[in-house]
Amino acid sequence: MKIQHTSQGFELAARFFLVAFAFFTGLFPCLVPISQAQAAETDHKILIVCFSRSGNTRALAEQIQTATGGKLVELEPVEPYPADYRLTVSRARRELASDVHPPLKTKIDDIDAYNLILLGSPNWGGSIAPPVKTFLSEHDLSGKTIAPFMTHGGSGLGRAASDIRRFAPRANLAEGLAVRGSAVSEAHRNVTTWLGRLGLRHN
Ligand SMILES: Cc1cc2nc3c(=O)[nH]c(=O)nc-3n(C[C@H](O)[C@H](O)[C@H](O)COP(=O)(O)O)c2cc1C
Repeated sequence: MKIQHTSQGFELAARFFLVAFAFFTGLFPCLVPISQAQAAETDHKILIVCFSRSGNTRALAEQIQTATGGKLVELEPVEPYPADYRLTVSRARRELASDVHPPLKTKIDDIDAYNLILLGSPNWGGSIAPPVKTFLSEHDLSGKTIAPFMTHGGSGLGRAASDIRRFAPRANLAEGLAVRGSAVSEAHRNVTTWLGRLGLRHN
């Protein structure tokens, strides 16, 4: 019994000593900053920009908007893409082949107010769709962070990262999210995991 008491007493004293040591040497503050850093990263003002022809990327953007509370802007080309899939494919082929940036109806006047842009596009021909290229080339995104999200039919993010770098060379590119167009309605966990990896607080 006596031995047990002594060892318990020793254990308590050791714990007390460790806690006091950690507290006074500043070890605690070293452990805490993970949450402090996350708090700092949540100070982002978030703009969600997307283009969507058939609704998949818009639906994903709306999930992201609900989760982050960011402002959502959908890019609308002056000349809308045809509802007919084959006509859209042939216009997209022409635009992608000659790097056409179709003019947009959408104007974003307060872009300077945002430091993080979550940028959504369908995968067209292995990369971002032409209206998204127009958005990138119409704005100075220097110093802002761009995190791409993309819906696709099997090609994932494709060359999205290198094309975004090409059109916004002075922006910081963050990790992207790719979701199959047919799986957008079940993407909630992918979305929250991605937002978590970006260090963003989310619902
Ligand atoms: C013109 C065009 C080109 C496409 N090219 C690809 C492609 O190269 N790779 C791929 O995985 N999906 C491709 N898709 C499929 C779309 O990326 C997919 O259906 C996407 O979810 C559509 O998004 P939206 O509904 O927001 O327009 C293409 C679709 C279109 C209309």
